[in-house]
Amino acid sequence: MTRAFVPEKAKVAHSFDRAAIHYDDVAILQKQTGDELLERLSFVKLQPQTILDLGAGTGRNLAQLGQLYPKTQLIAADIAPNMLVQAKQAYKEANGLKRWLPQKNKPIYIASDAEQLSLADNSVDLVFANLALQWCDLAKSFSEIQRVLRPEGLCVFTTLGPDTLHELRESWASVDDYPHVNVFYDMHDIGEAMMNAKLAEPVLDMDRYTLTYDTALALMKDLKVLGARNVNSGRRPGLTGKQALKKVSQHYEQFRQEGLLPASYEVIYGHAWSGAQAKQSHQQDGSIHIPISQIQRL
Ligand SMILES: C[S@@+](CC[C@H](N)C(=O)[O-])C[C@H]1O[C@@H](n2cnc3c(N)ncnc32)[C@H](O)[C@@H]1O
Repeated sequence: MTRAFVPEKAKVAHSFDRAAIHYDDVAILQKQTGDELLERLSFVKLQPQTILDLGAGTGRNLAQLGQLYPKTQLIAADIAPNMLVQAKQAYKEANGLKRWLPQKNKPIYIASDAEQLSLADNSVDLVFANLALQWCDLAKSFSEIQRVLRPEGLCVFTTLGPDTLHELRESWASVDDYPHVNVFYDMHDIGEAMMNAKLAEPVLDMDRYTLTYDTALALMKDLKVLGARNVNSGRRPGLTGKQALKKVSQHYEQFRQEGLLPASYEVIYGHAWSGAQAKQSHQQDGSIHIPISQIQRL
């Protein structure tokens, strides 16, 4: 798989840490895709004991996952500790006094990198990751997901495809040759990373969303509030000048439709099962058949 871009990890954590307080004010797309992912999940028959909300952010999906699976142990993991502070608060508010009921498990909050999860092998039944994996190295993250999933576990996620914010990317290209918008993996790369991580029966599909803005500056401001900064390692050093922003804005005007500027998002929905079942197939007589490829010489 070709590595599209290498996000600077410290910068990602710092950006989202700073964004935590105002993130919910502008997380419109994240709410839509989170709801869609939860709805898709409601059609799957599952009784997870443990759910990991990976890249949980301010935790909106955490409370909803708790409603969908009331007896489950929820784990919220995020690389930005301030996001987890917000998630904890949001969970308390969403549950009110109900959170003191004996059967209500309190979520566990862990500041952890998706590429190196501080969780035991085979410890999670469901991994839920809404718009977080686009900030991560997919090969490492899917291999961690496979490691922590129990044998019959499921991973559901959304991430962003390469057409995302193409209007902004094109507009910046009129200013200089530096990458100003993060680069995203395509479905082929995502599928390959899932297969390489030995996740089983991977399924991917794509949906397009358009948010609209009065000005290009308003879009860029929202991205900043979200914490969705340019974290390309080859980004232009230093601050962006007023002239450059003016040029981007002028170029963006060509996309104006019915009085508004569109910002396109290509959202990729995916799911896959733990590959453990595929590795060892249970026979009717109770024996387990292990493929020859997995038998190692001692
Ligand atoms: C766009 S937000 C989505 C948050 C949340 N899932 C939602 O639906 O609103 C992306 C989140 O992923 C987190 N994140 C980014 N890189 C990460 C990594 N390597 N490991 C864990 N979390 C990460 C960010 O801190 C941020 O909270």
